Amino acid sequence: MTGDASVPRRASALLVVGAGGGCGASLLAGALALSWARAGAPAWLLELDLDRADRADAWGLAAVRSLADLAGVAAELGARHVGHAAQEGPSGLRVLGAPPAPGAADAWDAAALRRLVEATRAAAGDAGRTVIDAGPGLGRPARAVAGGVDAVLVACGPHVAAARRARRVVEAHSASGARAACLLALAHGPNAGEMGARAVARAAGAPVAGEIPWSPGEAALLGAGSWPQGRRNRLARAIEALGEGLAEALG
Ligand SMILES: Nc1ncnc2c1ncn2[C@@H]1O[C@H](COP(=O)(O)OP(=O)(O)OP(=O)(O)O)[C@@H](O)[C@H]1O
Ligand SMILES: [Mg+2]
Repeated sequence: MTGDASVPRRASALLVVGAGGGCGASLLAGALALSWARAGAPAWLLELDLDRADRADAWGLAAVRSLADLAGVAAELGARHVGHAAQEGPSGLRVLGAPPAPGAADAWDAAALRRLVEATRAAAGDAGRTVIDAGPGLGRPARAVAGGVDAVLVACGPHVAAARRARRVVEAHSASGARAACLLALAHGPNAGEMGARAVARAAGAPVAGEIPWSPGEAALLGAGSWPQGRRNRLARAIEALGEGLAEALG
């Protein structure tokens, strides 16, 4: 972060996408944000998987505020607006949820999406961390904001087909001219994968920043906004380690 007073102070931003559908990107995004909040950072989770996501609902947060409240002020969004629309989640994490509603995404053109990300970063402040869940692939919201984030994390299973899809995301990101580093999170499934981390990195054309073990019990807790306790919490520990590694990369 800069010390130049002329540069607006704002949080780092990590964009999380899935190489394909259902590979654990939302769980990863939510759990990373939660791990940073638990570590004491002003952490924000922004759901840009518009029309589909609803972390606030899964985490049992009252559905009183959401991105839908901001659609009317999308042209003039500031930190104050996102502050009002966010819900307070576990460990003080702020959640800007996108309730599934047909057509809700239409209110958000590319410029409005970029404004939303900037307003969220400003609201989180310069010590903050913003995690953006943009759904599978480089969809419209992801493409709109990828140029302005600090890093892109692609969740990818240990399979040839998944690595191929991840490669398309990595190549599209780099072809867009965006400067943010593109990293992989190797998300394991219930069965042994076809590929290890090195092979996935080679096939997808990006480094693997961390491996995410398959752990349904922990995933159920994390998916409901609770941090797994106890010693046998290898998913939670893997997320924490990934978060620490990424925190260095994000600055
Ligand atoms: N590491 C894991 N261990 C066990 N289950 C997991 C793990 N990660 C995710 N899951 C489960 O897999 C399912 C899909 O996860 P998630 O919704 O995070 O995927 P996604 O990539 O965001 O999917 P979508 O493409 O629909 O957005 C969920 O039921 C989640 O609880
Ligand atoms: Mg998702």
